Amino acid sequence: MNLSVVILAAGQGTRMKSAMPKVMHKLAGLPMLEHVYLRSLELSANDIHIVYGHGGEHLQEYCRDFDVEWVLQDVQLGTAHAVQQASPHVNDEHVVLILYGDIPLIKSHTLTKLIECVTAESISLLTIKLEDPTGYGRIIRVDNEVVAIVEHKDATDKQRQIKEVNTGIMALEAGYLNQCLHRIDNNNVQGEYYLTDIIALAVHDGKKIITSQPDNAYEVEGVNDRIQLAKLERIKQQEQVDAIMMQGVTVADPARVDIRGKLTIGNDSFIDINCIFEGKVTIGRNVSIGSGCVISESSIGDGAVIKPYSVIEQAVIANNVEVGPFARLRPGTLLKENSKVGNFVEVKNTQLGSGSKANHLTYLGDADIGSDVNIGAGTITCNYDGANKHKTVILDGAFIGSDTQLVAPVKVGKNSTIGAGSTITRDTEDDALTLSRTEQKTITGWTRPTKK
Ligand code: UD1
Ligand code: CA
Repeated sequence: MNLSVVILAAGQGTRMKSAMPKVMHKLAGLPMLEHVYLRSLELSANDIHIVYGHGGEHLQEYCRDFDVEWVLQDVQLGTAHAVQQASPHVNDEHVVLILYGDIPLIKSHTLTKLIECVTAESISLLTIKLEDPTGYGRIIRVDNEVVAIVEHKDATDKQRQIKEVNTGIMALEAGYLNQCLHRIDNNNVQGEYYLTDIIALAVHDGKKIITSQPDNAYEVEGVNDRIQLAKLERIKQQEQVDAIMMQGVTVADPARVDIRGKLTIGNDSFIDINCIFEGKVTIGRNVSIGSGCVISESSIGDGAVIKPYSVIEQAVIANNVEVGPFARLRPGTLLKENSKVGNFVEVKNTQLGSGSKANHLTYLGDADIGSDVNIGAGTITCNYDGANKHKTVILDGAFIGSDTQLVAPVKVGKNSTIGAGSTITRDTEDDALTLSRTEQKTITGWTRPTKK
């Protein structure tokens, strides 16, 4: 079977009160529309069509990596009109699945079940029973067979008692869809072209409506405002955290971890409260992540310990490394095995060799540091001259005394020792002590100034 997906995303989303199209608002770090797009990919759709409207240029720019056909719906005349913008581009032989950019938590399993029911003689419709069906299209059944959908606003009081509602999601043959779309009028309370009118037409044509239901109600919940978005965000977060716990990760409090992207994490790792993971993050086994850490686009090796309140971005951390508390690792950081970066240390575009340590109050930028190097407290690589960045090279076994400034470009020799408080402007020799400070002197009988 060949599948085409049409994703409706043209609605203005006025209740979001936003300058941004509704479907661009993020859920678990991705635009709502991207969740629906990813589900479509999971179904191995032959082609995907996104019907966009208001603010669409912005949307296309943002989603430029999507492999989709963008179709503009200039004016929003209803869901049938929206589908009609895309359907001429769909092969008549395909099955079409209608999805919505603002129904982000739909699962591919539910959709697979739905699509499997489509035949030349049937339309497949996803419905759900709701305690409060207010606002939804009602499923009208006669002798248990679906015969029509009536929109809430068009429904009689008796029809409004019906609890089974239309989720909007349906699948049917493209050729038949096209034929029906031409027959739909806007003769209803809202003056819109309703996609739902297809059901009565199909029944009239002798087709059967096959209904199925999602396993969870939230799969078909739409987002109209930021309260609904936040509700679905919590559901998605819980689902993601459940998945990593099932893989053997201990999470101190599942309600206080946010995964905004793709987190891969090995078993027997531990995540304390209030951590945020953004983008693609890969973490090994037996890793401990302390509370309040923000980790984005990074990888962390087995046995590493990340202490509380560390901020890590585009960094690579090898096995058994210790970071933090209060460390900041910026893009281009590479910490090799058994190295240590302690509190109030900022690292950028720098390699720290195996077994090397920078334990306190330090800035390491554009530096290439060998193994077993000790960087004393308050060391600063002066990498920027106001116009260009320069490199600091520190060879294996060097010892940098506290409060040293390394004015780049500069190279510290192998096993070189730098005396505390030095300003190093020239390369230093291997195995030697280098220092640059005035000798200590004493002025006896010194009296301090007094206040006038
Ligand atoms: C629709 C269904 C209703 C169902 C409900 C489920 C119709 C006529 N009604 O009602 O039976 O219970 O969804 O949520 O289909 N859109 C466009 N272009 C348009 C109109 C809508 O892209 O011209 C998009 C909207 O962005 C939205 C979706 O289609 O994502 C649904 O449209 P909306 O007008 O909200 O329909 P509902 O009244 O919710
Ligand atoms: Ca709606």
